[in-house]
Amino acid sequence: MKGIILHGGRGTRLRPLTHTGPKQLIPIANKPISQYALEDLREVGVSDIAIILGDVGPNKVVDYYADGKDLGVNINYVRQGVPKGIAHAVGLCERFVGNDAFVVYLGDNILKGGISNFAEDFEKSNYDAMVLLSRVKNPQMFGVAKFDGEKLVKLIEKPKVPPSEYALVGIYFFSPKIFKMIRALKPSWRGELEITEAIQGMMDRGYNVGYRKVSGWWKDTGRPEDVLEANQLVLSELKSFNRGKVEKGVTVSGNVGIGEGTVIRKGCTVRGPVIIGKKCAIGPDTYIGPYTSIGDNVVIKGGEIENTIIVGDAVIECNKRIVDSLIGRNSRIVSADKTLPKGCRLIIGESTFVSI
Ligand code: TTP
Repeated sequence: MKGIILHGGRGTRLRPLTHTGPKQLIPIANKPISQYALEDLREVGVSDIAIILGDVGPNKVVDYYADGKDLGVNINYVRQGVPKGIAHAVGLCERFVGNDAFVVYLGDNILKGGISNFAEDFEKSNYDAMVLLSRVKNPQMFGVAKFDGEKLVKLIEKPKVPPSEYALVGIYFFSPKIFKMIRALKPSWRGELEITEAIQGMMDRGYNVGYRKVSGWWKDTGRPEDVLEANQLVLSELKSFNRGKVEKGVTVSGNVGIGEGTVIRKGCTVRGPVIIGKKCAIGPDTYIGPYTSIGDNVVIKGGEIENTIIVGDAVIECNKRIVDSLIGRNSRIVSADKTLPKGCRLIIGESTFVSI
């Protein structure tokens, strides 16, 4: 089997983070979201992977993954540029796929437990396509499955009245027959070639389309709150490690990972699950609370941080409590207590959200 990871799209809901790079490179527990997809594919023996590049920071993706050798896979890059839809992106991979079966993995989706059972089922089956479904509370935000008894009969994009609670997970298994359906597609009302329509086309023409229900959690990280939730879900399975230095007088509880060259200074409290990258300086007298991921080269002096992702290369020196936040690379958050006039001074990019 081959694999396709979608790394395009605009990521408008995650601006301003996506002004400078694709959302799939935002770290969850200090690892880019799309690397979870890549590792799931590798785990099921998929070593030939095409990564679809969009027009938001494509070079950052190539810089990070390169030819894939360091991660034990072969990566081919396929440039999509402007996002013309998931089916359009898949359609660009016809030559790469050849006659093989393949998995399409949206690079912003994370599925607990990976795809090994599903990949095995698909390979043993005579399905032309197989989709994964997850029970959700808000099906109207997703592609939703309609059943006739146990049989999947329809896929409906963001229905006002959902026919079931089962949303389409962004992981699809296909035989090359899907390309014929994609070639016949017309852009939808939102101007995109929709993968749901291609799969619907297969069902309508009597192709064998199967499904599996996923039992563990699944997260589509389209919005900031989804990214934070995915971070919580991944961190709740973190195992402790300490490759740095924890000074005397620090309280560490729960599962905490501390990277090489990182120092936690006296008077700090770190309450896991928390992951801290390399070459960070935390403290003195700083509180890092549950579900916080701190990337490399971050300085935090004073204050409290909880349920937050700090991408990396940032300085936070203030006596405030920061919660539920996404903090991009090279950010500086400093105290206004000792400067006049007092107040919040903000130099922030387009589409920023601040709650003060
Ligand atoms: P979406 O989340 O639907 O779209 P988006 O990334 O443009 O985000 P937003 O709505 O916030 O602007 O995309 C789902 C996944 O598919 C995501 O990983 C991006 C990827 N994608 C492509 O690679 N090419 C495309 O043409 C589209 C539409 C999406």
